[in-house]
Amino acid sequence: MTATDWDGIAAAALDAVVDANQLRRPRDFDGGSPRTSLSETGQPVVSFASNDYLGLTQHPAVRAAARTAIDDYGTGSGSARLIVGSRPVHSRLEERIATWREAEAAVLFTTGYAANLGVIATMGRWASVICSDELNHASIIDGCRLARAPTRVYPHCDMGALADLLGCSEGPGMVVSDSVFSMDGDLAPIGELSEVCAGRGALLVLDDAHLVLDHPESLHPHCRVLRVGTLSKAVGALGGFATGPRTFMDLLVNAARTYIYTPAAAPAAAAAAAAAIDVIDSPEGDELKRRLRTNIDCIRSGHSSPIIPIIVGAEDRALATSDALGRQGILVPAIRPPTVPVGTSRLRVTVSAAHTNEDLNRLAHALRRAGIDA
Ligand SMILES: Cc1ncc(COP(=O)(O)O)c(C=O)c1O
Repeated sequence: MTATDWDGIAAAALDAVVDANQLRRPRDFDGGSPRTSLSETGQPVVSFASNDYLGLTQHPAVRAAARTAIDDYGTGSGSARLIVGSRPVHSRLEERIATWREAEAAVLFTTGYAANLGVIATMGRWASVICSDELNHASIIDGCRLARAPTRVYPHCDMGALADLLGCSEGPGMVVSDSVFSMDGDLAPIGELSEVCAGRGALLVLDDAHLVLDHPESLHPHCRVLRVGTLSKAVGALGGFATGPRTFMDLLVNAARTYIYTPAAAPAAAAAAAAAIDVIDSPEGDELKRRLRTNIDCIRSGHSSPIIPIIVGAEDRALATSDALGRQGILVPAIRPPTVPVGTSRLRVTVSAAHTNEDLNRLAHALRRAGIDA
């Protein structure tokens, strides 16, 4: 019988998740470095699941900057940027991001998720059509849903299909793509994407959330591009941002609802992010990226990003393998539908510069024991 009262509706909906063997709960860990332990049992584990690609969540200068910001400004911002939430640390971070990303200006959001919603819903208002890659992240999908423009999904990285979609629309279109896809770790062909957009006057929005190593392609000089990024992954803090021409950034400040109607980032998060970007943009950052490159090559030589998917197909197999690795103290999550298409369940290995050779050897050994070839 279909429930009609809210307790019944919630219970039935949760039962459906349980029946699909998809119930999940957060687990606590005792620390943020790859070598940590499960709080409940104390079991030591090496994590290959974090997006802390350069290990900056634990960097002494980043931690010190967060502590100083708390001493200077307190814990929360207390309000939205446009009311009384803005502190010098926010404005300095925007300037730092703009210099780092070689953009005219930057705008901060409280997460990368909010940045995608804000940019896509705002600019989408004026788009004749929004074209979105079929493997784009959930925050892009939700941004398209909020935008008041028709959205067309094109097959993964299919530039011919994209050109056809743009060709069918009257007026300026908009194209949105991850630059590194979050579940496959492959790169969008940003050179071609920007060429297609430039040829049809479309605005290109690139989500660089997982772009930690340089992308080998450059953008077409006549393409209008906005870039979205996160401070919660390689930057090791919390927050999101958009970069691009100043007019677009000023428009976001005045029209993006996820910028206007939510508090400014906690000063400690903004200060940590600025300190982390200083590290990334220094010889030490170059060294960390070299180390990350070497670590990726150790698991899968030449792979384009720190996200290494090991496709196993069936959901049960992905879960069983993840459990088998877990029993050996190696944490690799199983990713299943609806996050990825049916039949492509996988182990999602993420590699960090903070992993040691011993960590990588342990992963390789555990995968072999589980009968998996990376
Ligand atoms: C591709 C992509 N874009 C955006 C986001 C959202 O960023 P944030 O974690 O800062 O909310 C994520 C996070 O998982 C992501 O993978």
